[in-house]
Amino acid sequence: MSGLPKRERGNSHEFRYLREGSADNSLSECDAWRLGDNRVLNKTDDLGGWFQTLDRLPPPPLSLASLFPQPQPTELEIGSGRGLFLQNAALACPDRNFLGIECDLKEAKRAARRLQKRNLTNAKLLGADARIVLAEYLPDRDGPRWFEGIHVYFPDPWWKKRHHKRRIFNTAFLAEAARLLVPGGKLHLWTDVEAYHEMALEVIADQVAFTRLPPPSEKNPSHDMDYQTSFERKKRKLGLTIYRECWERNDLPSPPRRLEELLAHAGYRPQDDDADDASEDLADDDDA
Ligand SMILES: C[S@@+](CC[C@H](N)C(=O)[O-])C[C@H]1O[C@@H](n2cnc3c(N)ncnc32)[C@H](O)[C@@H]1O
Repeated sequence: MSGLPKRERGNSHEFRYLREGSADNSLSECDAWRLGDNRVLNKTDDLGGWFQTLDRLPPPPLSLASLFPQPQPTELEIGSGRGLFLQNAALACPDRNFLGIECDLKEAKRAARRLQKRNLTNAKLLGADARIVLAEYLPDRDGPRWFEGIHVYFPDPWWKKRHHKRRIFNTAFLAEAARLLVPGGKLHLWTDVEAYHEMALEVIADQVAFTRLPPPSEKNPSHDMDYQTSFERKKRKLGLTIYRECWERNDLPSPPRRLEELLAHAGYRPQDDDADDASEDLADDDDA
């Protein structure tokens, strides 16, 4: 694997998928769905409509109508992990649809199974890289904007400084969020990483399209599934501080989308980014 050119090896996140065994060991699962490798995807048939990958969808734009039986306001979660948020939100708000995007296909399928088991038709999983979905599958449209809410819970912190550029909550992401959220729609970010929280406040401070709201207060769980997400449960049980943020999409126009941001979202990494860490990726496995 280390003999592969850097661009094919991907980042340390993708090594995790490889270890978990994609059908073609020269591809990560993320790459596999992009390339339409059905040997990976065929394993998902029993999940019915709860789990989708991009190669099984019609070409962009994404059709929410084909994913959800009820046409109703939709919220997006990025990095759904095991799907506890999707489950609880879908149960609590049957008059809303919830779309989760999770690029770790094993986790995405586990989350989808959770929804399927409860027959929750208002929550679905997309096994995909959210950056690609946002940039390629959710274009501007003439009608209403796409989402009433966007949720990012416990995003991978990418601890090392030179990996900070891989963090999902960045300027490019905020430009997309501003474009996709209806006025009055909410952007939620929770993390236990203080430095991530500070970074998020810094990058969003430059975005006129968002107004910071008072943070949601910590609630006492009434049972073991009564947490926002699995990571919240895990981190709170460790006694860690959780930083909770919520911003409202205001009426100001979206910032323009810059070409380099679009490329970054589509997974393009400049050559010099590749050169500096070719020999270190294996050691970085725990960075995400
Ligand atoms: C630390 S986990 C948190 C999972 C869940 N939100 C929770 O709180 O339990 C972060 C998740 O984000 C996913 N993720 C990271 N980058 C992503 C991307 N670009 N698109 C979709 N999912 C992503 C990871 O695979 C991982 O499951």
